[in-house]
Amino acid sequence: MRHCQLRIPVAAAMHRTADCRGCRRCCGRVILLAAWIVGCAHAVGSPRQVIIDTDPGTDDAIAIVLALRSPELAVRALTIVAGNVTAAQGAENARRIVSLAQRCNVPVAAGARKPLVAKLTTGEVWHGRNGLADIQLPDPTCPLDRRWAPDLIIEMVHAAPHQITLITLGPLTNIALAEEKDPSIVPLVRQVIMMAGSASGGNVTPAAEFNVYVDPEAAQLVFNAGWPITMVGLDVCRKTLLTSRQLPQLGEGRDPLAHLVFGIGEFLVAAAERRGAAGAAMYDPLAVGVAIDPTLIVAAPMRVDVETTGRLTRGETVANREGTRELTELRRFADGERYVFTGVSGTVVANAAVATDVQAERFLELLLTRIRSSHPPARSAKVGGTG
Ligand code: BDR
Ligand code: CA
Repeated sequence: MRHCQLRIPVAAAMHRTADCRGCRRCCGRVILLAAWIVGCAHAVGSPRQVIIDTDPGTDDAIAIVLALRSPELAVRALTIVAGNVTAAQGAENARRIVSLAQRCNVPVAAGARKPLVAKLTTGEVWHGRNGLADIQLPDPTCPLDRRWAPDLIIEMVHAAPHQITLITLGPLTNIALAEEKDPSIVPLVRQVIMMAGSASGGNVTPAAEFNVYVDPEAAQLVFNAGWPITMVGLDVCRKTLLTSRQLPQLGEGRDPLAHLVFGIGEFLVAAAERRGAAGAAMYDPLAVGVAIDPTLIVAAPMRVDVETTGRLTRGETVANREGTRELTELRRFADGERYVFTGVSGTVVANAAVATDVQAERFLELLLTRIRSSHPPARSAKVGGTG
């Protein structure tokens, strides 16, 4: 645990405190050590509880594996939304992943099958026909949870007030539906960390990022609900490139989850290289990385609204980087009426912490270390080749 690093080894510290029994300074050390142990026990014993709302999805799959492999996080559920693939395909993919990880204790709940208003747009062209780089995983052994994803979110947030972090890796439909059905969850959610949007141009259109483009109406509701949002957008994700140089580190060993990530990584890196890019952006894994270690990014408070009507800009996350708004006034002149700028309002209230920079190498090291740290399951499941 990062916050539990003690500069002197615990055993040595105990030895020193025992040696100078009766001395005030040493008593202080004993108290500090006790506080440290209690603090660590709390940190170690209380991983951050997260619900991952996802549309798996190649990079979603890597993100899920990262979360399952990270002791800082307790994955309470995977809630599935339509996006990269249909909701049915996404739910099946999620069940295959938790089955491979032998983590049937993580419920997989199906959610929205289409955006709030728009017709669904899917992205198999980037994720493979099955959404998982066409890798054939064994049939799922973990069942589909019977609860509807938005209901499961509502239920879990009420059961653990102020403790649940929502990590969103897909269109924001499920989150908007949950919030609309029960707005009382908003102040009870610890944080919403979303891979969504961009403050500097899109990927599926010049203006819009995929997750927001698919359901802009949902995104606008979520941005304006009032919960603490961290937006991990394209601006920073594009700095986290997985390259062919790193891939072999994932292929070592016989661990099925590392094999899955290796296969997906190969698929994504090959696609990126065909486009002339140096590597594949780890979009969704970075959002999970931020839940594990918030110091990976720099974020600035901004007001973010979503363009829902623009012909060229639908789905754009319009981020106010200045924190101010120019004021205009309609005035009458001899030659007619016109608006004139009159000054600046400082009253723009931020609704999100927007990631503006990332320690990309540190994040990639975390990702690779966690994925290849194999804890081979007792009953190993085989991963088929890419097809
Ligand atoms: C986002 O779009 C999806 O295709 C990825 O899974 C990621 O969530 C990046 O724009
Ligand atoms: Ca995704």
